[in-house]
Amino acid sequence: MKLSPSEEGLLEGRGGKGASRAMEILAALGRIHNAADMVPVLSVQVSGISYRNIGEHGLAFLEEWAGQGSKAVVPAYMNPGGADRKLWRSLGVSADFVDKQNRVIAALQKLGVKPTLTCTPYHAVPRPSLGDHLAWSESSAVCYANSVLGSRTNREGGPSAIAAALAGCAPRHGLHTDEGRLPTTVVEVRCPVPKAADAGALGYLIGRLLSHDPRGGIPFIRGVEPPADKTREAWLKALGAAMAASGSVGLFHLEGVTPEAVDAGMILMAAAGRHVPVESLEVGRRALFSAKGRPNVVALGCPHASLDELHRLEALLKGRRAKIPVWVFVAEAVRAKARRSGLGGRLETLGVTIIADTCIVVAPLAEMGVANVATDSAKAAFYLPSHQGVGVYFESQEDAVEAAVAGELGKAQGAAAP
Ligand code: F3S
Repeated sequence: MKLSPSEEGLLEGRGGKGASRAMEILAALGRIHNAADMVPVLSVQVSGISYRNIGEHGLAFLEEWAGQGSKAVVPAYMNPGGADRKLWRSLGVSADFVDKQNRVIAALQKLGVKPTLTCTPYHAVPRPSLGDHLAWSESSAVCYANSVLGSRTNREGGPSAIAAALAGCAPRHGLHTDEGRLPTTVVEVRCPVPKAADAGALGYLIGRLLSHDPRGGIPFIRGVEPPADKTREAWLKALGAAMAASGSVGLFHLEGVTPEAVDAGMILMAAAGRHVPVESLEVGRRALFSAKGRPNVVALGCPHASLDELHRLEALLKGRRAKIPVWVFVAEAVRAKARRSGLGGRLETLGVTIIADTCIVVAPLAEMGVANVATDSAKAAFYLPSHQGVGVYFESQEDAVEAAVAGELGKAQGAAAP
C-alpha cells in the first residue's frame, strides 16, 4: 500500500515512538484490507475504554503507549467509561473501580484523547458533515455518522482508533470508498414503526437478517419513515444502534433520509443483491424481552440522550415523581447544559438521575445492585443479558416512564412478556 512521505516519516519514528507504533498498526490493517493508501481523518472516537471491559491488560497496554510520548494530531474523543466521575459514590460504584477507570482516562488524555466519554459525540462537539472521513469506533456512533450525517468511517477497534488519532489518518477501504458503501440487501418494511423503541426492534431484526451476509450487510431500507417531530433523531439513533449490535451493520441507507439514498436512491437499490421483507416487529420485541423480576431502574439514553430527549422525558413525566429510579445517560456537555438551564434540577426532583461518562451496558451493574432494567433501547436489551446477566423489560419510553411513575409494570407491559 502507498504511504505518503509524511506517513513514511511517522513510520520511521519522526513523530516519536508512539506515532511510529500507530503507523505500524494502520499499515498492517491497510495491507490486510487491501487499502490503496491512507485517508486523512477529521476526527477520531475511541471505544473500549471501560475498565470493566478492558481490565488490567487493557490498562497496562494504554499506559505503556501513553508513556511513549506521542499525541493525537486530530480531535479525538472518548466513548463512555465505566463510572460517572461525579456521581459514582451515590450510584454504588467502588472506589477501587473508579481509581482504575480514572487511570484509563488519564492514559488516553496523555495520548491527546479528550474525555468526552460519550457514544453520541455529535451531541457534544461539532458534528461532522457529509463526505467527511472519520475514524470512529463505537458501533452506534459509526452507524449514525455514516447513515444520518453522510460521513465516512469504518468501525475502528480501540487500538486502531488511537493509532488514527496519533497519525491523523486511516486505511482507505470499506465504508471510506464509494463501492464499499453500496447496499447488499433491500429491506422492505411492511409494518408501522412509530416510536424509537419500534425502530430499535426493527434495527435488531435487520441486523439479524444481515448478520450472515459474507459481504458485510448494508441494508437499503424502504417502506418506513422516521417521525417528523422532535423524536426523529432518537428514532434514527435507535435504528442504527440496534442493527449495529445484532448484525455489526456500519451503514444503512434509509430511503429519503440517508444523504446518499436521497441523491441516488434508485442506483443504490439496483446494486443490492437480494430483497427481504419485514412483516412485523413482534419477533424482535419478544427476543429483546428477558426480565426476571421487578426492574430496579428504568434506563434511558442508550445511545446517550440529547438535550431534546431530556426535555421530552420531562414532558412524559408531567410533573409526577417516579417511584422506580429513572437513569438517563448523556454526555457531560449535555448534562451541564441541562443543569444550567434548570432542566437538570427539575428532572432530579422527579426522580431522574442524569448520569454522564458511562452507560448502562459498560457500568459495573452487579456492584451497583442492578438485576433487572426497563429500557426503550434495543441495543441495551440485546447486550445486558449476555454482558451483565441483567434481565430487561424492553418497552417504549412512554411505557417505561409510566411504569416508573406507577412503581410497577402495568398490565400492558406484563402482557408483553413471552
Ligand atoms: Fe452508547 Fe453504551 Fe448504548 S456506548 S449506544 S449507551 S451501549
